[in-house]
Amino acid sequence: MMAQHGGDSEIEGLIARMTLAEKVGQLTMLSGDLVKTGPVTTTVTAEAITSGRIGSLLNVWGPERVREIQRLAVEESRLKIPLFFSLDVLHGLNTVFPVPFGEGCAFDPELWEKTARVAAEECAREGIDLTFAPMIDVARDPRWGRIVEGPGEDALVAARVALAKLRGFQGANLTDAGSIAATVKHLAAYGAVRAGREYTSVDISERLLHEVYLPPFRAAVEAGIAAIMPAFIDLNGTPMTANARVLNDIVRRQWGFSGVMVSDYGAVAELIVHGVARDLTEAAALALNAGVDIDMMGNGAYGDGLPQALERGLVTIETIDASVRRVLTLKAKLGLFADPYRRCGPARAAAETRKARRALAREAACRSVVLLTNRDGALPLRAGADRIAVIGPLADGKGDAPQAQDKRAIVVRDGLHAALPKATLAFAQGCLVERGNRAALTEARALARDSDTVVLCLGETMGMSGEASSRTHPGLTEAQCALARAVLAQGKPVIVLLFSGRPLVLPDWLVAKAGAILAVWFPGDAAGEAIGDVLSGHVNPGGRLTMSWPVDVGQIPVFFAERPTGRPPLPEEHYSSKYLDMPNEPRFAFGHGLSYSRFTLDGLRLDRAAIGAGDTVEIAVDVTNHGPCAGEEMVFLFVRDLISSITRPALELKDFGKIALAAGARGTLRFRLGTDDLRFLGPDLRPMLEAGAFDILVGQSARAEGLLQARFDLVVAAGKVA
Ligand code: BGC
Repeated sequence: MMAQHGGDSEIEGLIARMTLAEKVGQLTMLSGDLVKTGPVTTTVTAEAITSGRIGSLLNVWGPERVREIQRLAVEESRLKIPLFFSLDVLHGLNTVFPVPFGEGCAFDPELWEKTARVAAEECAREGIDLTFAPMIDVARDPRWGRIVEGPGEDALVAARVALAKLRGFQGANLTDAGSIAATVKHLAAYGAVRAGREYTSVDISERLLHEVYLPPFRAAVEAGIAAIMPAFIDLNGTPMTANARVLNDIVRRQWGFSGVMVSDYGAVAELIVHGVARDLTEAAALALNAGVDIDMMGNGAYGDGLPQALERGLVTIETIDASVRRVLTLKAKLGLFADPYRRCGPARAAAETRKARRALAREAACRSVVLLTNRDGALPLRAGADRIAVIGPLADGKGDAPQAQDKRAIVVRDGLHAALPKATLAFAQGCLVERGNRAALTEARALARDSDTVVLCLGETMGMSGEASSRTHPGLTEAQCALARAVLAQGKPVIVLLFSGRPLVLPDWLVAKAGAILAVWFPGDAAGEAIGDVLSGHVNPGGRLTMSWPVDVGQIPVFFAERPTGRPPLPEEHYSSKYLDMPNEPRFAFGHGLSYSRFTLDGLRLDRAAIGAGDTVEIAVDVTNHGPCAGEEMVFLFVRDLISSITRPALELKDFGKIALAAGARGTLRFRLGTDDLRFLGPDLRPMLEAGAFDILVGQSARAEGLLQARFDLVVAAGKVA
């Protein structure tokens, strides 16, 4: 019974009794294949479990199923070590929330945490112990499809998402009811794949790696993340799965990460394809020595390769033991030694709980909506008896519409009907997302002509973003453009709803002619209700973009945290940093998002003109809601380090905050900045603090024109290294 609770000495006792095959088994994760998330499939046999050749599973859940498999491990295997079960739970399990990229636009850590908590509670009844989430890859190229899973273009936002999700998934303690282990992924710089093409190699500077891509992971490690997944990519010549310098030297030694590193799907075996290993044995040795504890779907990389690597002297038994120890420790922390069935049901939550979760899904979907344009008050829709035409391939919850993924999802027209019961609603599909046809177009045209307002639902199907879904033209397909032109030509106010998992490159004519455009992403279970809430004005939209939307693919990457050039763009100066055929600025800046109210900022003030090491400065700004309705305004705090030994981005995001104000009300938002926030990586990439002037820039987005500005001095000994 000793080993049943998984204390340190019990774990050591187990390791002492394990055969090599059993040790390697603990480091092997296979897929139960209830869903398919990679190219390799497996058949997990009962024998593989009872013989101890598998330590964990992915893609299998459900209390009965998990119970049955777990029983084989804890009753029929020699050492009776429990398995752990894992799954990608990126935006909910039973309750489906908006996709992470959409939810990010709420800029609301409390909400991010709450939705992760609900997901964790649902997992913890469905047999899931660990999730491969949150994905915290900063991404600045809308061609890359995995933007949909992540936090957008900025490292501070990514770090805040990481912390909120970690709190939600892991709770105060992994053994708490409703807690599961979380995994931050994909370490690191996956979002920088060349030209946005999935799985390509990444070649970036050490500075960019340390300034932008690593900090969100470090924040998660410092807060106690249970697991990390290295990215598929090759980073500057070393595949991340074999990157000992980042995984071992930086993450384990410098940051003190003591949790589990789990490879991405098949990534250990792929070291052969990368061209750094001759065979599975070398691949296994490279990965294990780099710090990768678990081989997920490695085609026998660890299973067959590690014993041979040991024999050939490529790995030591101490390194294998260290990984086994970390896996067993995670199982102990998850409470699996004490009760291997602790997360096995009952799966069905009480009706009250389900209702509350649905309400949260609706709130999250509403908060993630970003009102991109609103000409002449086209929105909100009036509550009168108008004829509203709901048109578009993404409107009706059938076919390839994202809402159709879930039978319970309320689709756009039902949502509008509930929100505007007096309106007459009619529907025409108009085209498929990727294909048009004349008859459908004619029908849509006629319907638009006979209506007072059109709600036009365009964008991407869910399959058009996500893993392995890079697009060279992340915009509307030809069929959808033809539909939009035909509908706009009828001269009626057209409200465009954009469903997507990434920023879309929009045609100028659409932006100019649409009455309003909203980014609604993939909103989840409560899609229709939330859209009804926002279009009818029951909810005043407050979402903001976490990523700039380019005018054209040619601008990519376009993001706010650019470093200054020696030749800033000047229209009258030929030799300046600009395009001949396009503005430098994105179509919609980071932080952009309108409201049905008009908010202004003024009175930016600092409580001191200078700070020394360890001090903080308080920044206050007044916000006025000029009406006509109550709403929330989001304010972003940026810093510009005016003179430093290394050039700094023109805008560095340091904080964001929101304030709720009734129509006509005025309030104050306060922020604090400390000297820690002013550190940067010096010439040798070590953090340093340099005396000098800093500008504080505060605004409703990263658009330069709208920013209020104030200045203070940092007074520290010259070149002080913090
Ligand atoms: C993805 C990971 C995911 C894994 C397991 C891979 O293809 O890159 O993000 O966690 O599959 O589903």
